[in-house]
Amino acid sequence: MTMASDPHRPPPVDLVHHAHLTGVYAPQREEVDVSDLRVTGNIPDDLHGSYLRNGPNPRFDPIGSFTYPLDGDGMVHRIVLADGRASYTNRFVRTPMVELEEARGETIWSGLMDGYTPPASVVGDALAGTVRQLPDINIVRHGGRLLAMAESDKPYRLDPQSLATLGAEDCDGAMLVGSTAHPKIDPRTGEMVLFNYALEAPYLTWSVVGADGTRLRAPTPVDGLDAPLMIHDMAMTERYLVLFANPLVFDLAAVMRGGALLSWQPERGTRIAFIPRDGDAVRWVDTDPFWVWHFANAFDNPDGTVTIDYVEHAYPVGFATAPNTPNAPTLMRASCDPATGVIKRDQISDRTGLEFPRIDDRMLTREHRHIATVGKAGADHDDLESLWFHDSRTGRDSCFNPGVAIGEPIYIPSDRHDYWGAIGTDPSDMRSRFYLLDADNPENGPLATIDLPIRVPAGLHGAWLPGLD
Ligand SMILES: [Fe+2]
Repeated sequence: MTMASDPHRPPPVDLVHHAHLTGVYAPQREEVDVSDLRVTGNIPDDLHGSYLRNGPNPRFDPIGSFTYPLDGDGMVHRIVLADGRASYTNRFVRTPMVELEEARGETIWSGLMDGYTPPASVVGDALAGTVRQLPDINIVRHGGRLLAMAESDKPYRLDPQSLATLGAEDCDGAMLVGSTAHPKIDPRTGEMVLFNYALEAPYLTWSVVGADGTRLRAPTPVDGLDAPLMIHDMAMTERYLVLFANPLVFDLAAVMRGGALLSWQPERGTRIAFIPRDGDAVRWVDTDPFWVWHFANAFDNPDGTVTIDYVEHAYPVGFATAPNTPNAPTLMRASCDPATGVIKRDQISDRTGLEFPRIDDRMLTREHRHIATVGKAGADHDDLESLWFHDSRTGRDSCFNPGVAIGEPIYIPSDRHDYWGAIGTDPSDMRSRFYLLDADNPENGPLATIDLPIRVPAGLHGAWLPGLD
């Protein structure tokens, strides 16, 4: 049997009308290595490192379904800054699915949500019945490994110099059952703490990888969930791994009836798990139903309470509908007492429509001052994004609006000064640029704007890796 003769092969996705396959999201199929990029302004010569970013980027035009932000093959983009100069490299993350599709010259696997898996007659016994692996969400360096992260699956390890794919990685067994795309690295201990959700009980596990890359804790069940939930990100303090169990439920019974895989069940409320990192019993705190994609940070207070900063959505747009409920994602601070179950949630910025909250990662688990997010510049700039900078000490928000579609801001510390960096694409000419901002005054505009040699599709998460140049 050939692919074309598989009677169950889904039809192509309607590319032209898919918001996340067109415009600034359109996939990039070129792979290039270009040095000495054109720079407007100056790259400070104290910067030596690599800015890496991952994102959904289907190798071939998708079939069946395409659900942003989960579907799509990974493409990693790297901008190296060294000696006042910049270079750029990008590579696909080559899973077995991408490799076989490249050999055949077309799409074989479909999207996550339509349930098609290619038969052995098309892909061979080893890959029959598999779903596409999706290491397209984040990029993390830890314990000597550079990892393209998937959600609820194993990451793929990359060669840090060439960005070539080395293979699936389980981090000495800590990710044996999979991992969130958003593990957290404790800057104090160097440990990487992670969780994984699964469709089968116990539904949720957590693990720890030591600074040297060895497993410190094998996947350990988190007791207390009665259904499989989708959980995208985690927060971490010195004492706790914090998981928000928002009520987005994997409903396998509904799938059997022909319904959707994910079901929004607000009557469940949100349950917050405080998992003591010393292995003590999990404490759950109940609060209202809402949705979280991303956390900025969390920290312990001397009185035993925990502060958690995050972006709160009314519901998960794209995975659920809530008629007459504006979504308005908002930067929030939750103050929780895991011992008594008391929780208070306060809006900490007047802005709404925010996402991708980031801090200086050296402050993870401890009290931070600044949070950067991506948001709308104003009501009449619906298609344009800006970077917003929230000062937790003064409550002040400041904005850098380059007038382009801009992505997640990443904090870039160096010996002499600190910076923020982000990639943006101008929808009017589809040119992509890297913006380097002064961390003290990001609203003043870029110290350097670097022209990227090819368009970088609007994507997801990244990291600044000092020294990797
Ligand atoms: Fe994410």
